Amino acid sequence: MKTAELVAIDERRLLRRLDDLAQHGALPGGGLYRALYTPSWVAATELVTTWLKEAGLLARRDAVGNLWGKIEGSRGGRAVVTGSHIDTVRGGGALDGALGVVAGIEAVASLVATYGRPTRILEVVAICEEEGSRFNTNFWGARAIADRIEPGEATRIRDVDGVSLADAMRGVGFDPEQVSQAVRRDIDTFVELHIEQGPILDDHGPRLGVVTTIAGTTHLEVVVRGQPDHAGAMAMDRRRDALLGAAAMTLAIAESARAMGHPAVATVGTIAVEPGQVNVVPGLARLTVDARHSDNTRRVELVAEITKVCKVAGRERELDVEVRTLRDRPAVSLNERIADVLRRSCAAADVQSRDMASGAGHDSQVLAAAANVGMLFVPSIGGRSHCPEEATSAEDVILGTRVLATALRELAYQ
Ligand code: GLV
Ligand code: MN
Ligand code: MN
Repeated sequence: MKTAELVAIDERRLLRRLDDLAQHGALPGGGLYRALYTPSWVAATELVTTWLKEAGLLARRDAVGNLWGKIEGSRGGRAVVTGSHIDTVRGGGALDGALGVVAGIEAVASLVATYGRPTRILEVVAICEEEGSRFNTNFWGARAIADRIEPGEATRIRDVDGVSLADAMRGVGFDPEQVSQAVRRDIDTFVELHIEQGPILDDHGPRLGVVTTIAGTTHLEVVVRGQPDHAGAMAMDRRRDALLGAAAMTLAIAESARAMGHPAVATVGTIAVEPGQVNVVPGLARLTVDARHSDNTRRVELVAEITKVCKVAGRERELDVEVRTLRDRPAVSLNERIADVLRRSCAAADVQSRDMASGAGHDSQVLAAAANVGMLFVPSIGGRSHCPEEATSAEDVILGTRVLATALRELAYQ
């Protein structure tokens, strides 16, 4: 079969826009924090809206704040969509999510400028929230699209200041009663360009990865109850120090994943101590665990092992331990036909792509319940992400965007 030609894009505009978007939520000490429904998030969505309009797309925001840019296809039918999320983790980088949004707009703008109206409806989406960094939930935007929001979720879930998701929505002009209006049942295909966020492509090549599976994730909360006491007067061997228990658990949790082997991973990302005073033995510690594996059975085994080691560490120190599942998202296989389109588009760039599993979670894993989904990865330098140092070379950003555009041409211009 003759290899298609790689679609050309405006490379300087692409790179400039990535820099411009990174101004919204930039932290004084480096890195970004663009959290759902905050002023920096609003400013970022306004900027993206101007780009959607500049591309000649019909721009709208849905009931939860996902931003859509659409061009009608000459044959109608179900839509071909590309995009990613616009929010970031606290202290994150400029590419996680942003790349898929900015590259998606660039790809669609270049296709429309070069080839005119597509045959299929073609859309770009900037998904409002994926990271779970402000509220105790994640995939808010993609779940709204895929009809996966739980009844009462917006009122129940709060940020650290006690603001409910529903009130945060009202604060920026959304009606939490209307969340179900964001559901889409007319998406045929979703393609997401994303940075790898790990070291595989950077260490071993090639420059492009086609994602076949996205790892499943379980989030746990472990509450460790001991006894608060005087830090000066209580003897060391009479203490029931909850933080010492949590520290032992943290080491044992990491060891559980290491012992299971790649791609099992487990992370204690937060520990909160009560009463949290310099001169008081901690009476309570609350930690969160993020445990992942691309095989669902192995993830369940990993979570069972983590629960066991926490109970054992608690028993050894006479601490009460409660392990609660916050959320459980299974591993997801992506669509093989879309993967083939992406592989062909990589071939157009003379790159033999690598099939790979994603360790990170993505909107794609949620949208896979509602559409045929494919994902393309570009390398992360040093495998770094969720940190200010997150970076991808300009050449790889451009390459990934051109390959995305080439895939969208095959999908939407047949
Ligand atoms: C999001 O980036 C996640 O993988 O948790
Ligand atoms: Mn992320
Ligand atoms: Mn992401």
